[in-house]
This record gives sequence, C-alpha cells and structure tokens, in this order.
Amino acid sequence: MRVLVVGGGGREHALCWALAASPLLTKLFCAPGNAGISEVAECVAIGAEDIPSLIAFAKDKAIDLVVVGPEAPLTLGLADACAAAGLKCFGPSAAAARLEGSKTFTKEVADAAGAPTAAWARFTDAAAARAYIREKGAPIVVKADGLAAGKGVVVATTLSEAEAAIADIMEDRIHGAAGASVVIEECMVGEEISFFALCDGETALPLGAAQDHKRVGDGDMGPNTGGMGAYSPPPIFTDALQQDVMDRIIRPVLAEMARRGAPFKGVLFAGLMITAEGPKLIEFNVRFGDPECQVLMLRLKSDLLPALLAACDGELARFDLRWEALHALLVVMAARGYPGSYAKGSEIRGLEAAGQVPDVQVFHAGTARREDGALIATGGRVLGIAATGKTLKEARDAAYAAVDLLDWSGGFCRRDIGWRALT
Ligand code: AMP
Ligand code: GLY
Repeated sequence: MRVLVVGGGGREHALCWALAASPLLTKLFCAPGNAGISEVAECVAIGAEDIPSLIAFAKDKAIDLVVVGPEAPLTLGLADACAAAGLKCFGPSAAAARLEGSKTFTKEVADAAGAPTAAWARFTDAAAARAYIREKGAPIVVKADGLAAGKGVVVATTLSEAEAAIADIMEDRIHGAAGASVVIEECMVGEEISFFALCDGETALPLGAAQDHKRVGDGDMGPNTGGMGAYSPPPIFTDALQQDVMDRIIRPVLAEMARRGAPFKGVLFAGLMITAEGPKLIEFNVRFGDPECQVLMLRLKSDLLPALLAACDGELARFDLRWEALHALLVVMAARGYPGSYAKGSEIRGLEAAGQVPDVQVFHAGTARREDGALIATGGRVLGIAATGKTLKEARDAAYAAVDLLDWSGGFCRRDIGWRALT
C-alpha cells in the first residue's frame, strides 16, 4: 500500500513510525513532514491545509490511503475532497469534524446522545451572558464558540474573572470571529484524561487513554500549551471506567452522528473529567492528540495500517487491537519562550546518544536539517523524548536519561511528567 500522512508534528512522526513497520506498506509519503519523519517517509513540501495540492499529489502518486493528523485540514474538508477524488482517507468528513470545530454543536450532540457533560448555555449577547454568569456564580467556565487555537477557554474562579472573559471574547474579540458567541459551562472538578476511540461510522474500538500536561511549567503552573508531555496508561483510568466511557459517551455519540447524517470515521478523542460522579465529557477532538498519539503508538502491538483501513471500510466490528503490557511516557522539549514568542534556528546536538538509551524513541516535531546537515529547531514544540518500561517509573527514568544527553541550549522541558501517577 502507498500511504500519504498529512501533517508535520510529533503526532505525525509517531504515525509514520508505526505505519513504516507495517508489512503491508510499500511506500510512505508525508506532507509536509519534518527532519525526523524524513528518516521513515519521503517528505513532500505541501502544506497540511493545501487541499488541492494534496489531492493532486495523492492522485499522481496513486496513493491507496491518506491519513490525516491535524484537525485543520479535516474541518476544511480534506476527507470530503478525497472521497470526491476516489481516494481513501482516514479522518472524518467536515460535517463530522464539527465535533471539534464548534463547541455548541458538540454540546447539542452530547445532550441528544445522553452523554454526561457539564451543564451549559450559549449566548450571542454579552449582557445576557453576564446575567447568566451572575445567576450561576463562580467558579464557571467561559469558552469562545469557534476554533481559537486552544486558547479560547477561561476557567474563571471569580465572577469578575468570568465577566472580564466575556469582555475579552465577545466585545474585544481577542479570538476574532470565534468570539461571536460564547458557551458558558458548569465548572467540573477532577482529573483530566484523554481517551481515544477508533470509529468506522458505526462501530467504535477503544484505542486507550493517556494523560497530557497542558501547562508549560512544573507543578502544572503557567500558561496553557499544546501539551508538554504525556503518559499511558493512566492508572486512574480503570477498565471499568473505559467500559463506562464507551457505553455512555462514545457509542451513543457515534449513533447520534450517524442519525444526523454525519457518521464519524476516524479517531474520536474525548477530553474527559473524572469527577466524583464518574467520567464526564469536556470536549471532543476529531484526531489523535499530540503528544498522546506518541505514547499510544509505543504501546500498540497490532499493525496500525489494517486498523486504519478497517475504520475507513466500516469493518471494525470484525477487528480487534492488541496492546503491549508496557507503560509509555513522553517528555516534550520546547524552544525557550514557548508558548510565547521563541527563536528559531538554534542547533540541537546529542540526539543520536539520546536515541541510543535502551527503550527510548525520539519523535520530532518542529525540526529541520540545515544545509550542513545540522539539526535545527523550527517550532515551539520541537522534540518528544519517549520511553517505554515495565513500570511508569522505569519509562520516566529512561526518558529523562535521554533528555539529559541532549545538548540544546535553546530548549527546555518540564521535569515532572507523570507526577500525578508517580506521587
Ligand atoms: P478545551 O479548549 O475545551 O480543551 O478546554 C481547555 C481546558 O479547560 C480543558 O482541558 C480543561 O482543563 C478546562 N475546562 C474546559 N471545560 C471545563 C469545564 N466545564 N469544567 C472544568 N474545566 C474545564
Ligand atoms: N494534547 C492535546 C491535543 O492534542 O489537543
């Protein structure tokens, strides 16, 4: 099979790494890829959101399967464009990708499916939003309704914080058009889990759970990021909880999407809060998480390629997935300054030594090769240093042993990945 992976981050490196191990694979391309991906796939200089060029390339190269990493091309209709061109695509249609693109849509689907989630209301009028906030009291959560690069959510601990969020989002439009409406939610309390299910429109198979670390600093301090590290499996997410999430959230939502004429095919990523009353849905994403994908791929024993094909072909009911009895943990190395402004072009040394630590796998995110062959940082999140172990502690120790072999003055990482499970 000839496969094209779309995207160029750590998630796509992990997908390429797993696909490259498949005996079914004959040729792997990645658009646009990165320096690490180029070791397992042929990288092509097409942006992940350039749908016409991706379709033209896939047709020209007789691609058998397009695998989409990030959400943006999905919300722009890459899966639909593939279908129209007779190309097989792993990832949801634009109509189904609304589960990530619109918070209101997600809440309506969750309510219709009876899935447990926070109580909510939507407002297009700032005065009405303020009145609702005063009626409900703090803590309360204010969200811009559209896509806001993961920055549109304010968990307000006081009324004045919540009212300031209304002013920022709706009146000052700090997230642009995404702030034309807001969703205001009850504040849920508990531990957060990222849960993944492989879906073929009708049937869902659990892909397992991971815990992300969204804040930039140790002890979960500082601003939010795309994710500074992850581990899998999270010990609090028991088999019974997984069964509960499949029965009360994933399967009913899949059925509701099919009923609405937008069957969901691809990876459904449920952000969950494990509350005292059980797991509740925070939000959906329509793709793998980054860096959660990396730790899941390290634990997957089954061949990824037939699993993705079964999801495309509606054949998951006859499929199962096997997992290694291992723990995986990943530490993100980011450029100094991230998630604020950061410099590009600093040189990274020591990667070969880091990659030789037993049980360690290095995934690239924002990297490129300079003309002289040196590896340079080109993004905010730059590398993911991952390791597996019989215990989570072994995985953590191996990952940090590799981190400590890196020679990169322009980078930093959190030193406490996995702390919730290890203390
Ligand atoms: P989102 O952009 O929807 O993933 O939200 C970002 C973060 O805000 C989540 O990861 C949670 O930590 C937090 N959050 C969102 N909604 C709620 C809620 N209803 N209750 C508590 N925390 C929330
Ligand atoms: N790590 C969270 C995400 O991919 O959205």
